[in-house]
Amino acid sequence: MPSSQHGKTFDLVIAANRLPVDQVILDSGETEWRRSPGGLVTAMDSVMRDQPGAWVGWAGEPGEAPAPFDQEGTHLVPVALSAEEVRRYYEGFSNDTLWPIYHDVIVPASFHREWWTAYQRVNERFAEAVAEVAAPGARIWVQDYQLQLVPAMVRALRPDVRIGWFNHIPFPPVELFAQLPWRGQLLRGLLGADFLGFQRQADAQNFVRACRQLIHAETKAGTVAVDDGSGRRVRAAAIPISIDFKGLEALAREPSVGERAAEIREQLGNPKVLMLGVDRLDYTKGIRHRLKAYEELLADRRIGPPDVTLVQVATPSRERVAAYQHLRADVEQTVGRINGDLGQIGAPAVHYLHHAYPREEMAALFRAADVMLVTPLRDGMNLVAKEYVTCRFDLGGALVLSEFTGAWHELHQAFSCNPHDIEGLKQTILRAINTPEREKQRIMRALRKRVSDHDVQRWAARFLAALDAAPDRAEPNP
Ligand code: ADP
Ligand code: F6P
Repeated sequence: MPSSQHGKTFDLVIAANRLPVDQVILDSGETEWRRSPGGLVTAMDSVMRDQPGAWVGWAGEPGEAPAPFDQEGTHLVPVALSAEEVRRYYEGFSNDTLWPIYHDVIVPASFHREWWTAYQRVNERFAEAVAEVAAPGARIWVQDYQLQLVPAMVRALRPDVRIGWFNHIPFPPVELFAQLPWRGQLLRGLLGADFLGFQRQADAQNFVRACRQLIHAETKAGTVAVDDGSGRRVRAAAIPISIDFKGLEALAREPSVGERAAEIREQLGNPKVLMLGVDRLDYTKGIRHRLKAYEELLADRRIGPPDVTLVQVATPSRERVAAYQHLRADVEQTVGRINGDLGQIGAPAVHYLHHAYPREEMAALFRAADVMLVTPLRDGMNLVAKEYVTCRFDLGGALVLSEFTGAWHELHQAFSCNPHDIEGLKQTILRAINTPEREKQRIMRALRKRVSDHDVQRWAARFLAALDAAPDRAEPNP
């Protein structure tokens, strides 16, 4: 039963690897809270602003957890990770075992038994923190691949609550998932939930198929029977995530954002075509492929500075994981080569920025860009694509979008590309530049309508309704 030390319990509890803010220890020894990176926080932060609840997550630094505190109407409950757990649970099992397997093994996955042990221990700690702050009969909303054991662990501690889990990343085909030595435990961890949400129908189907083939569960019409004597069935369905369309559009319409967009173009030498990439520096994002296509277009003299330039914002990410270190070295070497070979005095071919920026600056960049390059090799959704079209209330700009993003399944009117096909990607970039304005406006109108009709508020309402409607609700404890 609930027994929060502080006496506070909540009807809605989010559990995510990260809190919406990271505690940063400055060189001076002082601490500061900064917005955490990534799409999960962008989306869930908007959702939690509209309703009271608690958010259980890691504060981003190893060591003791800061005390729980309230922020913008949400009760934040930090969970402690030791330095070794950061290495084994976060950098290791989450981001060097699961992340590659769930993203088509773009880089090889590493399997280490001590990483799995740490993953179990940290999931248990999250489950205990959730059980502590959940009110009787509360709705628990577990997020993402870092916490796949939490649903079953929470169920064991608090059989009265309702448990949902949403996967922000793809769920892999069974042939890849089957490589995981702990595949059965992961599936059983998830089956502790009442409802499982995925970005695409194919992800939900992959999960159901994995249950059928790997743990011999009986499956029917998107549900999986749980073999624990309870007779429960767990539903798995696609509920694609989105962004706060109204909030972001209002920000993009701010006169100061428009002025900053004009200033950015001026600072770049008023190019005829400004291309933009905005990604965490992650090998899933297809940054190497994008740069290769761009470099060849410049080398072929199809485009070139000062008429055309590319701004690539690459947010620092998972900097102690080897594959991310190799990617950074590779991207930075490539940018240096492109500028050295193909740039001009005062007109570099690529402006490379390795920083996080405030939301206003991101909105200004989106408003300034003529062509947005979203070229992942695999991505659960890609909120950047949705943010770009949201900021283009002027119907300007063109979105180049990889077929391998969840976003493409909703925004397929965009300039579609297969980033593995460098020749095809080059042609798509040229088409995005050269298509007549009226046609580009028609496309942008359609893309904006889709995001406006399917915003993050609708996503959250759909998820919670599906959670409430999921089969076999357990009776809340009195
Ligand atoms: P992921 O969750 O894999 O990082 P998404 O595209 O779904 O990818 O979400 C990324 C989020 O992070 C978006 O909201 C985007 O605007 C934001 N973002 C990306 N790069 C930066 C940056 N350099 N500064 C601030 N926000 C950023
Ligand atoms: O959904 C992908 C994800 O891992 C999220 O959990 C997070 O929002 C984002 O990518 C950033 O990753 P990290 O928390 O490892 O910096």
